[in-house]
Amino acid sequence: MRTAFGAHLEPAVAVGLAMLMVLACHSPVAESIEQDICRLFSNNTVIRDPDSCSQYIKCINAVSVYGTCGGSTPFFDKEKGACVKTLTDDSTCDVSCVNATSQFVADPKSCYGYYYCLDQETPMYGSCPQETHFNETTQTCTRLYESECTASDFEYCSIVKNSVKFDNLKSCAAYHVCEKGVLKTKTCSSSYYQASTGTCVAKPLVDCVAHPLPSNVCGKASKPYANKFVSDGATCRGYFFCAAQADGTPDANPMWNHCPPDTFFDASSETCRSPNLVKCAEDRCDGRTLPFVISSTKGCRNYLRCSEGITLDEMSCGNLFFDEARGGCVPNVVSYNIC
Ligand SMILES: *[C@@H]1O[C@H](CO)[C@@H](O)[C@H](O)[C@H]1NC(C)=O
Ligand SMILES: *[C@@H]1O[C@H](CO)[C@@H](O)[C@H](O)[C@H]1NC(C)=O
Ligand SMILES: *[C@@H]1O[C@H](CO)[C@@H](O)[C@H](O)[C@H]1NC(C)=O
Repeated sequence: MRTAFGAHLEPAVAVGLAMLMVLACHSPVAESIEQDICRLFSNNTVIRDPDSCSQYIKCINAVSVYGTCGGSTPFFDKEKGACVKTLTDDSTCDVSCVNATSQFVADPKSCYGYYYCLDQETPMYGSCPQETHFNETTQTCTRLYESECTASDFEYCSIVKNSVKFDNLKSCAAYHVCEKGVLKTKTCSSSYYQASTGTCVAKPLVDCVAHPLPSNVCGKASKPYANKFVSDGATCRGYFFCAAQADGTPDANPMWNHCPPDTFFDASSETCRSPNLVKCAEDRCDGRTLPFVISSTKGCRNYLRCSEGITLDEMSCGNLFFDEARGGCVPNVVSYNIC
């Protein structure tokens, strides 16, 4: 596993901000590698435990629930989602009892696990007590300080069934899927990947700050932006800060932040302004405290119904005009910059 989310959330070097933007407090997302693997998977997905050939994990509400295969079906087959006698096609779990009758062989994926070979064809799974590792040479569970075993790396496609989608954690829009055992990265088009459902959904529905960097977000190599705030291209409130780089290149890891509630980021003035002064094609309910806000649809007759910062739907005042301050439709023209 690896650190989640792009490095662009590292706190940027302190800069003198000559603007009135309120920098909302944000905590860089520094996830530890110890986090539950199930945060990547949709509810009730079953995967093989990366640390064992005989254990499996069921992801329930993003939390791992472990199970173990035993007896005459000691291996977990991630494609079948079941315990099996032998794995047909998994070199990372190649356990053989040939010439090892009545001996113990190591679980290739685990320092704790072992198999007892009943005969040349029948491994039985077992695992060492806590604080001990299995050692095939001595055929015993040995104390940790005597062990040189280190947890082995794993490939996602050796634990996840083909065609099951899962989060890649690197970008809000991207996800992984194994196709014939090969890890692929895919991207949701103009939407974000939601790990809990395993689907692409409207951006505001996903709590994610690893917004994909728009191309040339901090300018081109020939004309890099130095200490400039730019739109994040994903939300109406969000922006990146492109810090001037010592070597004169565009900032490759601009810091993301967003404007306070009921303000949108205005790229031309590099400030947070009243939403109805800012043209923005993303969700206009984002960060709004009103239940109804003016839509940017031409004519100023339409409004959006908002719930918890997300657009529920767009409604029309018919022949009337929407008045955001009153929260209703009125006969006289109300004009806003955006519609
Ligand atoms: C996830 O699955 C469990 C067990 O099947 C179920 O009880 C739970 O409600 C599900 N969670 C969600 C968010 O649907
Ligand atoms: C098992 O033992 C036989 C006879 O000693 C040997 O020919 C064979 O290569 C061995 N197989 C393995 C997998 O070690
Ligand atoms: C297993 O034990 C032997 C003998 O004590 C030792 O040399 C070897 O390093 C051990 N192997 C591991 C993986 O700890």
